[in-house]
Amino acid sequence: MGFTMGMGLNLLLLLAMVATNMLSLYHLSSSLQSHTPAPTSQQVPSHLIHQLNTIRATINHLTRVHPSPPSSTTPTTPPPDLLLLSHLSPIPSSCHHYPHMLYTYMNYTPFSLCPPDSDNLAESLILRGCHPLPRRRCFSSTPQKFPSSLPSNPFALNLPSSTINWEKYSCKNFDCLNKLNTYLGFDNKIESSRFTGYKSELDLPISQLIQISKTQNSILRLAIDVGGGTGTFAAHMKSYNVTVITTTMNLGAPYNEMIALRGLIPLHTPLQQRFPIFDGVVDLVRCGHAVNRWIPVTVMEFLFYDVDRVLRGGGHFWLDRFFSKGSDLERVYGPLIQKLGYRKVKWATADKTDSSGLKNGEVYLTALLQKPMTRSSI
Ligand SMILES: *[C@@H]1O[C@H](CO)[C@@H](O)[C@H](O)[C@H]1NC(C)=O
Repeated sequence: MGFTMGMGLNLLLLLAMVATNMLSLYHLSSSLQSHTPAPTSQQVPSHLIHQLNTIRATINHLTRVHPSPPSSTTPTTPPPDLLLLSHLSPIPSSCHHYPHMLYTYMNYTPFSLCPPDSDNLAESLILRGCHPLPRRRCFSSTPQKFPSSLPSNPFALNLPSSTINWEKYSCKNFDCLNKLNTYLGFDNKIESSRFTGYKSELDLPISQLIQISKTQNSILRLAIDVGGGTGTFAAHMKSYNVTVITTTMNLGAPYNEMIALRGLIPLHTPLQQRFPIFDGVVDLVRCGHAVNRWIPVTVMEFLFYDVDRVLRGGGHFWLDRFFSKGSDLERVYGPLIQKLGYRKVKWATADKTDSSGLKNGEVYLTALLQKPMTRSSI
């Protein structure tokens, strides 16, 4: 079967990583192995003993093993070990549903160039909940040439396309992306005026947001922009000395690279991922319209409570053009938001008038909500 040495080695390394975290168990099993089973109620299950023996064998094996090139054949059957061993490795459980993809992803030659990710396999796995992906010991490919200087202005025109590895995108430069759709977020002429104007009630210009914070004596220093595209909100907030981290995926275009090119912080995490941020440390969380009715309600509820977790008392939650069916806003999402117990600073709704909005009776909601300073335990 297509279980190459390279693949084997990687799994072994994953195992070894786990092994170091399981030292205490290792010791426990050692004492069992030495025929002095502790007659306690905490008997070690046999499958655990088996796994620990595997780890021990792995560590012995690792001291002898050397990398070898992967087989030239494309993997067809994932090795049964992959699933067994991934039970031990720091891979989330969702990875188990996609053994073929995971196998392909992990089929590489250690210490050399990573295989080209032309199918965007990493992103596909992440979007399926297989996040974090296991680490690999290979070199990811870099663009052929890199400019000697990078713009410091996040709204610089003529951003250097050569800083980006365009391999997995159909467009090969920014001009192409902007011709495709001027509103993808890659056209700085357009991006420089976003978040500045007030055309409808759904808008919350940054100047107004800053003003609201000031009047509430609520300092605005740190924020997360969830599903923030190319980081335009972060780019504008930078001029107000506010640090914004943007979570974004690379759906068909180099969103993460664009954010980095602007000197801002991209977080490559999907919407279902717990924010890799500690409790109560940010002043503002903005959810752009990537957060909308396409997300299952339960997932949305978990997302909202994770927003609450990272917000400090008195911090703000900004739903920017959230959209759903009008009836669902009243019946489902309104009550869901209400349950957070936040103060409504702004609550504006309007019909979504594009073709799918009209077809589905959708509405937009822009809400600015303030987390209570304290919560009493129930
Ligand atoms: C941002 O910080 C710089 C340096 O401390 C300061 O000169 C500037 O006035 C600040 N800008 C705003 C909008 O507060």
